[in-house]
This record gives sequence, structure tokens and C-alpha cells, in this order.
Amino acid sequence: MKMKLIATLIATALFGAMTTACSPPKAEMVKGVQIPDGTVDPAVWGKAYPAEYEGWKNTAEATPVGKSKYKKGNDGGETFDKLSEYPFMALLFNGWGFGVEYNEPRGHLHMLKDQAVADPSRVKAGGVCLTCKTPYAPALAAKHGLDYFSKPYKDVAALIPKEHQELGVSCIDCHNNKDMTLRISRGFTLGKALQKLGVDQTKLTNQEMRSLVCAQCHVSYSIVKSPEMKSQDVFLPWDKSTWGKISIENIIKKIRSDKSYGEWTQAVTGFKLAFIRHPEFEMFSNNSVHWMAGASCADCHMPYTKVGSQKISDHRIMSPMKNDFKACQQCHAESAEWLKNQVIAIQDRAASQYIRSGYALATVAKLFELTHKEQAAGKQIDKELYDLAKDHYEEGFYRNLFFGAENSLGFHNPTEAMRILGDATMHAGKAEALLRQALAKAGVNVPATIDLELSKYTNNRGLKKLMFNPKQELKDPFGPQS
Ligand code: HEC
Ligand code: HEC
Ligand code: HEC
Ligand code: HEC
Repeated sequence: MKMKLIATLIATALFGAMTTACSPPKAEMVKGVQIPDGTVDPAVWGKAYPAEYEGWKNTAEATPVGKSKYKKGNDGGETFDKLSEYPFMALLFNGWGFGVEYNEPRGHLHMLKDQAVADPSRVKAGGVCLTCKTPYAPALAAKHGLDYFSKPYKDVAALIPKEHQELGVSCIDCHNNKDMTLRISRGFTLGKALQKLGVDQTKLTNQEMRSLVCAQCHVSYSIVKSPEMKSQDVFLPWDKSTWGKISIENIIKKIRSDKSYGEWTQAVTGFKLAFIRHPEFEMFSNNSVHWMAGASCADCHMPYTKVGSQKISDHRIMSPMKNDFKACQQCHAESAEWLKNQVIAIQDRAASQYIRSGYALATVAKLFELTHKEQAAGKQIDKELYDLAKDHYEEGFYRNLFFGAENSLGFHNPTEAMRILGDATMHAGKAEALLRQALAKAGVNVPATIDLELSKYTNNRGLKKLMFNPKQELKDPFGPQS
């Protein structure tokens, strides 16, 4: 009896401690302040909720230097060039905007400013580029329809009220003004995609919403092109997938299934290809340890924090490493040092597989370039071998692209990341063997090592130059080491 009482007491105490630590704080409004319906201006919301507003504004601040090994998005206020970090990307993306300028992400407050100064080639797709950037996107898409997607970026951006033309993701993107509950504002993208998964949107839990508000943008989207290469629509390639299992295989099947999803032409190979962008939600929700444990994006990127006597969700959204792992320690008893070592160990392994598959694919791309040259000079290339090689190349390319566009360097789902990268390298290897066979059959002498001519791609992009001496040398790390 006594034992049981003690056990109950302990259980109550534990449960009490857990609910104070892990349940969302109540929205504590400064008394008397109302937020009128349809208010976009965060400053108005900030009058009611000053602590959250301060955090949100702080996403404009430079992030601390030296805390994250791979994600230096805005460390010390500098923007980091992905093509300098991974030179093979410059070769693979050569032919359109991403091969000219591809930066690491930084704080939310920068998003529209960053887009405004991006190389013009990056916003060629038109107004559609604003989908994940301005709180006005849903209204613009509803009002202007096809025009919103296809008109030049500058024309559509000019439709945003002057005072908000530099305003990125805001309170209204994630919250209902009446009670601060979470909302999905991008029904035209995420809403439709959830339907594809068969999700009943009236039954979503608050914990699911704590990931889905982020999934409004941190997902891969595809742009539908007309034969004249004008943007027609935007969609998330979640066809045939299910909640908790949006697979790379299904994504690739979808984006390869129709010519109109070809958004650009890869210069080195001449292939028209689709593209994959920041698939954080897809990677994380695909059976990862933390997804299965019931964690959400907000758990790790918006930890509870004390402001005065108030407990709030930290709205300075950034890498948990830059916040000294405070978010992780809501659940983990381990030290920040231990957690840091775990994250970096996961990222180091994934990065090495990523770089390996990237160079393997770059090699295949150069072999296609050679093959096309030989064909133009009259050599007969076996069509069956060529088609098979192309198929493997594209399968490998999209897998490598998926990992590289996902922003956690493998942490969000270590085992899935390694599976995808292993398959990418396997496909690249098959493609190379098949092409070499086709070339040999045509009587072409192919050197053992293919010169990637990397500097041609990394340094030939307008004003953009290599930002620093990349750690990876400007050559294939698996080629001869002379
Ligand atoms: C309206 C679209 C949108 C929504 C919603 C959104 N993000 Fe972002 N996020 C972006 C964009 C765009 C960037 C890159 C901005 C830049 O580099 O200028 C970004 C950057 C980030 C970064 C990098 C910050 C840094 O310091 O480098 C993190 C982390 C992040 N988002 C997490 C989240 C989380 C977690 C959520 C949900 C609570 C979320 N985002 C919701 C669009 C969005
Ligand atoms: C279990 C904790 C955890 C969860 C859950 C989680 N993340 Fe992360 N996220 C991390 C860690 C750790 C990193 C790597 C940060 C680094 O290397 O500095 C990261 C990196 C990122 C980055 C890049 C940050 C940067 O500074 O460039 C973005 C963006 C991001 N996560 C968004 C999301 C989104 C969106 C979700 C939900 C779909 C999510 N995360 C879920 C822990 C988490
Ligand atoms: C990218 C999405 C996103 C944006 C933008 C955003 N919030 Fe939040 N906010 C959240 C999430 C997630 C929570 C946690 C809600 C929960 O667990 O119920 C939250 C919680 C809150 C709460 C409840 C108390 C707390 O701190 O947990 C308030 C108040 C709030 N936000 C105010 C704001 C204000 C004001 C702005 C604009 C300056 C804003 N939010 C912008 C995602 C966002
Ligand atoms: C909502 C609670 C929660 C949060 C927040 C959380 N974790 Fe976890 N984490 C878990 C659970 C539960 C497991 C699985 C059980 C276990 O192995 O302890 C886990 C497992 C892990 C593992 C081993 C499995 C793997 O994927 O390699 C690592 C490493 C880890 N967490 C690191 C982190 C880091 C770093 C952060 C912060 C960026 C974090 N966790 C945030 C609950 C959480």
C-alpha cells in the first residue's frame, strides 16, 4: 500500500515535471491588444506577443562562429557558397541559376532580401519563386493564378505592398490571429500534397502541426513548365507516398514521369532534368529515429526558453548546435559535448558518402560529354547501352541532389541518408561501366581517369568566385592522387 502510494507520488511528480518541460507554453498576450484579421505586419502581432516577436527579429542577426561544423549559413554575418564547399555541384548544376549561385541557408528574416540580390538566373522561373518567401504568396496565387507563376519575378514581387517587399516568413504564415493556434497557410502547395498522402487535415495533432508549419516551405517542390519553358504550376511530388514514408523512389518516379517537370538543361550532358529542393520534411518524416520518437521540427529548432517569468518557444529559429544543444537537452540527459560529437560523427560519415557519389556522378557527366562529342564526329554508340547508362545516371543524380539539398547533412535521418547515398554511388558506378562499354564498342579510347575540369565550372560564373579554398581539392578525391 505504502509502496504503491510512493510510486504514485513519484509518477505524479515525474509526470508533472515532464508536462512543465515538454508541453507547449500558453500564448500569453499583453492585455488588451487585438490582432485584426488578415494582419500581415509582424510588428502588430509583436505588440501582443513581444517576446516571440523579439526572437523572430533576431533571425536577422549573424549566427555564432565555430559552433556548427557544416552549416555556416550566416556565421559572423557571412553568406556561405555551397558551390565552394562542394565543387562537383558547380559541374553538375552548370547550365542554370544553381550552377551560378547556391548559398547555404540563413536566418528567416533574410529570405526576400537574399532573393532580391541573388543572381538574376536564380529567379528566372518567375513569380513562382516567391511561394516560400513572402506571406503574400497564397493571396497572390489565388488572385493572379497562372500569371503569378509565369510572370517575371520582378513584376510579381512588385505586387507585394511596398512596405513588405523585404518581409519573409511572418506570424501569419504559421498562426491564427485569434488564439495563436498553428495553421497551414499554403493550402495550394502543402494542403494539396497532404491530400495526396491521404491525410485528413481536420485531424492533425498539435505535435504534427509543429512540423507541418515548417513543411510549408522545407519540402521539395517541382515547377511545371510549358513547352516554351514558362512556369505553369508548383506541386510537391508526394504522389504514391504515405504519411511517414515519402520516399526518394516515389519522388524520382514522379519527377521523371513527365517532360513538363524538366526545369533546366544540364550543360555538361545536355539532359533536360527536374530538380529537388530542401526536402527537410520528407527526409525527417521517413521513419527517422526522432520522428518515430514523436519529435517535431519545433522541438529541435524552437526550444522552450525563459523570458523573464514567461516560458516561450524560441522564435529565433536556427541550428540547434548554435544554441548549444539546449533543444536536445529537453529530452536528452547527455552533455552538449556528447551531443555535438554525435551530430558531427553522423554528418562526417554522410558528407564523405555524399562527396564520393558527387564526384562519381560528375565523372559520368563528363563521360556523357565525351560520348556526345564522339557521336557528333560520326561514331556509332550502342543505343541500348547508352539508354541504360542514362537511366542509371539520372537515378543517381536525383539521389545525390536530394541529399545535397536537404539541410541537415544527414542528421535528420542518418540511416536513410546513408541508404540514399549508397544507391547514388551504385547507380553512378553502373552508368560509368555501361558508358565505357558503349565507348569501347565504338572504338573510342577512354582514359582511366576523367579530367573533370572543375575550375571551369567553379570559377566561370560571373562575379561569383570560389569563396575560400575548398577543403576538398579541385579534383576527384578518388582519382589518382598525384
Ligand atoms: C515561408 C517559408 C518558410 C517557413 C514556413 C519556414 N521556413 Fe525555415 N527557411 C525558409 C527559407 C527561404 C530559408 C532560407 C533563408 C535565406 O537563406 O535567406 C529558411 C531557413 C531556415 C533555417 C536556417 C537558419 C540559419 O540560421 O541558417 C532553419 C534552421 C529553418 N529555416 C527552420 C525552420 C523551421 C524549424 C520552421 C518551422 C517552425 C521553418 N523553418 C519554417 C523558409 C521557411
Ligand atoms: C532531433 C532534432 C531535430 C529535428 C526533429 C529537426 N531538426 Fe533540423 N536540424 C537538426 C540538427 C542537429 C541540424 C544540423 C545543424 C548543424 O549542422 O548546424 C539541423 C539542421 C537543419 C537545417 C539547416 C540549418 C542551418 O543552419 O543551415 C534546417 C533548415 C532544418 N534543420 C530544418 C528542420 C525542419 C524543417 C525539421 C522538421 C521537418 C527539422 N529540421 C527537424 C536537428 C533537428
Ligand atoms: C515558421 C512558423 C512560425 C512563425 C513564422 C511564427 N511562429 Fe509563433 N510559434 C510557432 C510554433 C511552432 C509555436 C509552438 C506552438 C505550439 O506548440 O502549440 C509557436 C508559438 C507561439 C506562441 C505561443 C507561446 C509560445 O511561445 O510557445 C506565440 C504567442 C507566438 N508563437 C507568437 C508569434 C509571433 C508574434 C510571431 C511573429 C512575430 C510568430 N509567432 C511567428 C511557429 C511560428
Ligand atoms: C522530443 C525529444 C527529443 C529531442 C528534442 C531530441 N531527441 Fe534525440 N532522441 C530522442 C529519442 C526518444 C531517441 C531514441 C531513443 C534513444 O536512443 O535514446 C533519440 C535518439 C538520438 C540519437 C541516437 C539515434 C540517432 O539518430 O543516431 C542521437 C544521436 C540523438 N538523439 C541526438 C539528438 C540531438 C543532437 C538533438 C538536438 C538537436 C536531439 N537528439 C533532440 C528524443 C529526442
